[in-house]
Amino acid sequence: MTETINDQIICTTQSSLDPEVKPFKNILITCDYTNQYFDSLVICGDAKEELKKFPDNYYQCCITSPPYWGLRDYGIHHQIGAEPKLENYINNLVKVFREVRRTLSDDGTLWLNIGDSYTSGNRTWRDPDKKNPARGMNYRPPTPSGLKSKDLIGVPWRLAFALQSDGWFLRSDIIWHKPNCQPESVKDRPTRSHEYLFLLTKSEKYLYNYEDIMEPSTDRRGLRNRRTVWSINTEPFKYPHFAVFPKELIKPCILAGSKRGDLILDPFFGSGTVGIVGLKLNRRFVGIELNPEFIEIARRRFIEEHLSISPAVKGYHCSGDI
Ligand SMILES: C[S@@+](CC[C@H](N)C(=O)[O-])C[C@H]1O[C@@H](n2cnc3c(N)ncnc32)[C@H](O)[C@@H]1O
Repeated sequence: MTETINDQIICTTQSSLDPEVKPFKNILITCDYTNQYFDSLVICGDAKEELKKFPDNYYQCCITSPPYWGLRDYGIHHQIGAEPKLENYINNLVKVFREVRRTLSDDGTLWLNIGDSYTSGNRTWRDPDKKNPARGMNYRPPTPSGLKSKDLIGVPWRLAFALQSDGWFLRSDIIWHKPNCQPESVKDRPTRSHEYLFLLTKSEKYLYNYEDIMEPSTDRRGLRNRRTVWSINTEPFKYPHFAVFPKELIKPCILAGSKRGDLILDPFFGSGTVGIVGLKLNRRFVGIELNPEFIEIARRRFIEEHLSISPAVKGYHCSGDI
């Protein structure tokens, strides 16, 4: 069931969730959730500013993927990823994740997926790649000082070290190996078929349900502790959002980093994959997304995957400075 209250949509999940667990019914999609009841929440706004409104030690786990540096400029105030300087991009992310750390419980974890890129050689734009829209760029920043044309920038490790200096415990790098990676037309380096996922924590001791994410042992007769290379295909996506998590990538993060009923956070919510997988695993979620067009995609995905919707409801209305 879905209903509108003051132009906001409240979606109620169907009873497909585990019957033994109290279903977390109400997903509120809004620009202002003050004094409103919710089980799960999607906020349209800037991650850093919205997180400031939440108390300390609120979330058990954060799973997220910030925008790549220098890929797209949506022209939206407060967007991250279109900073002309690499250090400004890193600093902006450090500030967002400082708020994430404050709002994370003391035994909480952050699972951070972040993409790398090459310097542009001072091209300021790149033609859309019809075969691979995810690589299409409408914007290219200048080459960072100290780097040369064609250099791999190393964004993931630069960010990981900056977060470590800011107080996070850097506990693991995980290689997300993409067996079905996009072909590249390069002839002077290997085709890139991986991204990084970092496990960062607020404290030395933290919740990590290692038994829930064990993998088959080499002889396939038993299970062993999960390794750091995860081979997971990217998934086809019918909506216009180009950097969507495969569900299989975030499942182990949710299982290891939280318990049933816990609240998980994605401050760069995009098309809402963390919310969809979280609900299926009986977690609640808060998602923050700056671009209303992507919130609309998330809303449609919730309806397709979890929710029934009244035909009277055509869309949501979001007012505010965005
Ligand atoms: C890599 S995408 C996340 C995709 C998401 N994991 C999914 O599965 O769909 C990053 C998202 O961050 C959003 N974003 C950029 N700057 C933001 C900001 N300051 N606050 C909140 N969201 C922001 C972008 O609009 C984009 O949708």
